[in-house]
Amino acid sequence: MAKLSINDLDLRDKTVFIRVDFNVPLSADGKEITSDKRIRASLPTIQYAIEHGAAVILASHLGRPKGRRRPEMSLAPVAARLSELLGRHVAMAPDSVGAEVSAMRPKPGEVLLLENLRFHSEEEANDPEFSRQLASLADIYINDAFGSAHRAHASTVGMVSFLPRAAAGLLMDRELQWLTRVTKSPERPCIALLGGAKVSDKIEVIQNLLKVMDKILIGGAMAYTFLRAKDQPTGKSLVEEDKIELARQLLQTAVDKLVLPIDHIVVREIKPGAAHETVTNIGADEIGVDIGPRTIEQYATIIRDARTIIWNGPMGIFEMPPFDHGTVSLAKAVAESKAVSVVGGGDSEKAIKTAGVSDRITHVSTGGGASLEFLGGIELPGVRALSDKAEAAV
Ligand code: 3PG
Repeated sequence: MAKLSINDLDLRDKTVFIRVDFNVPLSADGKEITSDKRIRASLPTIQYAIEHGAAVILASHLGRPKGRRRPEMSLAPVAARLSELLGRHVAMAPDSVGAEVSAMRPKPGEVLLLENLRFHSEEEANDPEFSRQLASLADIYINDAFGSAHRAHASTVGMVSFLPRAAAGLLMDRELQWLTRVTKSPERPCIALLGGAKVSDKIEVIQNLLKVMDKILIGGAMAYTFLRAKDQPTGKSLVEEDKIELARQLLQTAVDKLVLPIDHIVVREIKPGAAHETVTNIGADEIGVDIGPRTIEQYATIIRDARTIIWNGPMGIFEMPPFDHGTVSLAKAVAESKAVSVVGGGDSEKAIKTAGVSDRITHVSTGGGASLEFLGGIELPGVRALSDKAEAAV
């Protein structure tokens, strides 16, 4: 069911609580933001709220401080960066709840950023009293934190029941639209490119996507578990012994859909600069570290003919060049194809950046864990909590 959107609401003179995902990477001392991508991604919603006459309260977690006040996990550097990006002052609250914070309630056109929600253990415990205190700061709830929508916490789920309406922000809307489109009504042929180290991380995704996709191309170390299930040699490559049987079952039910590598780049020791060669059968002493050239060619041909592509996870140890070759080559193939392409997960995102093709991907999700759960067919608690469009009287 479609969810209420910020576009459906009258925000004038209202105090709007926007749950954003400012869980940005910081330098070790917590002073420098090393990527402001998530801050930029939330700008359209914040700007929309300001332009429509709202007073804006922003809230996020940063890192995993486990209920303790950790100065290196303060959101203060984010307030400074956001002020620069918005071109207006963003006030920084000393906490996320309490009298001092209530006294800082912004006026229309003003922006207040609350301190890291996870300085309180009640946030992750989805505590009702903490939820009530957060809700008491505002009139309207907006969730724009797609990256945290798989968490059932006070700021993503609990506080919703204390406010009359809960709507999706523009980023949340966009994420849901693309992910829904490619998984529910994809233009065909539709394919998924799945990589990464472990089959166990992607079981739900494979099972769910097999229902819809025409083909699933497997890469990364998880391919070796599938190859072992087919009794093919994997040498010393990473294999999840306890998942071989599951891989065998998946292959039996979907042998025409699951596509596995036909050649491999192997090394004898995983280290930068290691001597490597291309093989069809992995030798007893060898470790697979990337897909080989014939696999790249075969996958690129399938990618070229596709009309919808979902991609999650690298094809090899891509953080150790030259074993990024398979991943980067396929990133280029995805960018060159005419397909609607949706990329999720931090590693795949880095790969498209390394390949210099980020702007040629239809949608790059801001949520790693959240997009994976979505692709696995799991309804995200932070999305379920939002008001249904049809039922919400605006
Ligand atoms: C993320 O970075 O995936 C989200 O911000 C969620 O963070 P978490 O895994 O610490 O809940």
